[in-house]
Amino acid sequence: MTTTQESPTAAGSGANASENFKASASSQEIADTPPERVAAIVTDVLKGVHDAIAKHDVSYPEFQAAKAWLMAVGEGGEWPLFMDVFVEHAVEAQVAASQQGTKGSILGPYFLPDQVRLGSTCKLPRRDDEKGTPLVLSGQVRDLDGTPLGGAEVDIWHADADGYYSGFAPHVPEGNLRGVVVTDDEGRFAIETVQPAPYQIPTDGPTGQLIGAAGWHPWRPAHLHIQVRAEGHRPITTQLYFAGGEWLDSDVAEATKPELIIDPQDDGTGIRRSTYDFVLESA
Ligand code: DHB
Ligand code: FE
Repeated sequence: MTTTQESPTAAGSGANASENFKASASSQEIADTPPERVAAIVTDVLKGVHDAIAKHDVSYPEFQAAKAWLMAVGEGGEWPLFMDVFVEHAVEAQVAASQQGTKGSILGPYFLPDQVRLGSTCKLPRRDDEKGTPLVLSGQVRDLDGTPLGGAEVDIWHADADGYYSGFAPHVPEGNLRGVVVTDDEGRFAIETVQPAPYQIPTDGPTGQLIGAAGWHPWRPAHLHIQVRAEGHRPITTQLYFAGGEWLDSDVAEATKPELIIDPQDDGTGIRRSTYDFVLESA
């Protein structure tokens, strides 16, 4: 390890996640919800808050603590982190109900668009001294009827062997362990990377403080983020998890699904290999 490395902080990753969200929010769909629907949803959200206050006989000092905490989340730029850990899985479940093919999971705050495009058999960009067990994920992208989808994009990003994401931790080079892999004529891909570590919500910011105050743990199981896109098809945003991995049964973000667990096996050379096929429905 170098001695000059800057350690990531909650404030750093929160601010980066907020900047990234603001930049991508201009290119992604932001709802223009009609007033009746806004009123119906917000009324129910507030009723949930009011009911909890009554149920738990919340005091004025507790109300003031809640306000101070909400302000700290904003000031620390942690709303994208908080929303993606504690709320996104419920939205994803609603979307999943109408989507066939591969199961989805949350996008999370660390997706970055326009990463390097790579051929179907490739190695993700990594440091010369990248830590971690080599991992190869291979598979095929297909339509619901089994037709292979050549030229599909398998956009993959994941944490390093210490649990940090490039673009959000200052000591990790830009683009590290990220890439857009383009499938061959038979829809196939084979991606060499390294085994990611479990991810810990930054404990030194307001989201971490809440987790500590509630006595929860701040961990997500190790995972690969993947978004698969093909022309004429509905994209799928998902994650793959590792059989036997720590925190698999208690993901703080509640984003695991049994269909998304892979079980890579050592091929005898120290490389762990797994296959996973992605199935997309027509748009
Ligand atoms: C968060 C981080 C992740 O890596 C992820 O997959 C989901 C959420 C977060 O810190 O909010
Ligand atoms: Fe993640």
